[in-house]
Amino acid sequence: MSDPIIQMQGIKKHFGNVIALNGVTFDVRPGECHCLLGDNGAGKSTFIKTMSGVHKPTEGTITFEGRPMEFSSPRDAMEAGIATVFQDLAMIPLMSVTRNFFMGREPTVGRFIKRFDIETANRITMEKMRQMGINLRAPDQAVGTLSGGERQTVAIARAVHFGAKVLILDEPTSALGVRQTSNVLATIARVRSQGVGMVFISHNVRHALAVGDRFTVLNRGQTLGTANRGEIDAAELQDLMAGGQELATLEGSLGGTI
Ligand SMILES: Nc1ncnc2c1ncn2[C@@H]1O[C@H](COP(=O)(O)OP(=O)(O)O)[C@@H](O)[C@H]1O
Ligand SMILES: [Mg+2]
Repeated sequence: MSDPIIQMQGIKKHFGNVIALNGVTFDVRPGECHCLLGDNGAGKSTFIKTMSGVHKPTEGTITFEGRPMEFSSPRDAMEAGIATVFQDLAMIPLMSVTRNFFMGREPTVGRFIKRFDIETANRITMEKMRQMGINLRAPDQAVGTLSGGERQTVAIARAVHFGAKVLILDEPTSALGVRQTSNVLATIARVRSQGVGMVFISHNVRHALAVGDRFTVLNRGQTLGTANRGEIDAAELQDLMAGGQELATLEGSLGGTI
C-alpha cells in the first residue's frame, strides 16, 4: 500500500471557548477516496480548512510527503498540491467556463506585451471537460448555464489540471439531485484513478459508500478511527455519525423509525 501524501495527527482546533476539533487523526493516500463523514457542526469544514492552510491547528502535527509541514496560508498549501473545492465553488456565473477554469492562472502569449492566450485556454478547457464526460456547447458558454453537478466538475477538473495531489471536496453532493449526484460520484472515481488522493466530505452515508475506499467519522470534533471499505456498513456509519448510543436511545423512543 502506498505511503500517505498527507498525515494529520492529533489535530485540535479551538475558537475561543469553542472546541471545534479535539484530536483528529486522518491521512490521504494517492489514488484513494477517503470519506470524512459527520453531522452538521461535527467539525468537517474546520478540519479541512486546517488541512488546506486556512486555519492553523491549536495542537497536532501535519506531515506532507513524509516531512513535517506547517502551511502558513491557503496559497502555501495549494502550491504544495492541496486543492479544495468549497461548497460555494468560487465561480463567477456570468463568466465563461474557460475564464472560470483559468481564473488567476491565465496562459499568456507575446514576448513583450503579454496577452491572455484565449485559443490555448479554450482548447484545454474543452478537452478537460470532455475527459470528465461534459461536452460544452462552446468554451465561451457561461458557467451559470451549467447544472450544479457540472459546475462541481469544472471546479474538480480545474484543480486536477493545476496539479492537485490531494483534492478536498466539501459536501459536493449535498445540494444536488440524484442524477447530478451520480455524475459527481463518477467524477470522483475518475480522478481517483488518475492517482489523486481524494477527500470526500459528506453527511450522506450512501453517497460516501458509493465511492469511498476508507471512512472516517467525525462526531463533535472527535473521531473513533478509520474503517476500510467492506469493514463497515451504512447502519454502522450512521450510528457513528449520531454518536452511537444517542441514536440507539432516540430510535427506541421513536419505535425504530430512523
Ligand atoms: N471561525 C469560527 N469561529 C468560531 N466557531 C467556529 C468557527 N468555525 C467553526 N466553528 C464552530 O466549530 C464547530 C464545527 O463547525 P464546522 O467545522 O463548520 O462543522 P461542519 O462542517 O461539520 O458542519 C461548530 O460548533 C461551529 O460553530
Ligand atoms: Mg461544513
